[in-house]
Amino acid sequence: MSRIIAIASQKGGTSKTTTCRNLATVLKEKGYKVLVIDSDNQANLTDCFGIEKPEQLEVTLYDLMEKVIMEEDLPKKEEYIITKEEIDIIPASIKLSDIEIKLVSAMSREYILRTIIDEIKDDYDYILIDSMPSLGLMTLNVLSACDSVLIPATAEYLSAKGLELLLKTIFKIKKRINKNIEFEGILLTMFESRTNLSKDILNMIKNSYGDYIRVFETVIPRSVKVGEANAKSKSIIEYMPNNKAAIAYNNFTDELLNYSDEDSSQIKEVI
Ligand SMILES: Nc1ncnc2c1ncn2[C@@H]1O[C@H](COP(=O)(O)OP(=O)(O)O)[C@@H](O)[C@H]1O
Ligand SMILES: [Mg+2]
Repeated sequence: MSRIIAIASQKGGTSKTTTCRNLATVLKEKGYKVLVIDSDNQANLTDCFGIEKPEQLEVTLYDLMEKVIMEEDLPKKEEYIITKEEIDIIPASIKLSDIEIKLVSAMSREYILRTIIDEIKDDYDYILIDSMPSLGLMTLNVLSACDSVLIPATAEYLSAKGLELLLKTIFKIKKRINKNIEFEGILLTMFESRTNLSKDILNMIKNSYGDYIRVFETVIPRSVKVGEANAKSKSIIEYMPNNKAAIAYNNFTDELLNYSDEDSSQIKEVI
């Protein structure tokens, strides 16, 4: 059975895309069959896998969603899935900016992405969906299609109370459109162990939410090499396996996999 994990937060720059890129690589190295879906019109994830000029691709996520909205058949899998480093990718392009407006008037508009995933999910162990930094209709589609949400967060994001809004949205989604949604947990990213802010925030978040949502023990440190790897369309795992962020992404993946179903955070109204 596949597990569908949404990587979400409504703020940009919290390492969503980087986490998706590197988690996919570690899972693949462990022998899992992985699909990643780029649901951000910025197409950063698509870029991180070295897919150039996605606006020239025949079929991207936008086209698939448009077909579902128009009640047309989807093309064959081979026509829209791109494979890089043995990881399957449904790419995005800037065209996806138009999807919100299309979704407004669509029937069952929260379930368009889910319809696409339902057709292919049996082929994968893990499906990771990289989200755009907003809580609009596209993100709603992501949250209604997933089994769980992983929230990468920087100290700044958490201190700005960005998490509360996201959690509230997820509670609403659980009530109304995806009652099985769970929290995968909160992953602290771009962590700077030398600054007190990061440490204070980690403690604060464990105290406030730790009883309800897993806060991963592993934190992803800030390293300029991560940016370099992204710019070269590589995972940090491959680019510099001994880098502290590469090691952290390996440890984080182990933590994620070792978490049993009984432990998984049932979403409760906590705020
Ligand atoms: N651990 C890290 N250390 C240093 N830079 C990072 C790290 N993680 C991400 N970055 C950089 O920070 C920026 C934002 O990361 P990204 O993954 O694109 O965030 P998001 O998808 O949440 O907007 C990118 O330029 C990326 O290369
Ligand atoms: Mg991103």
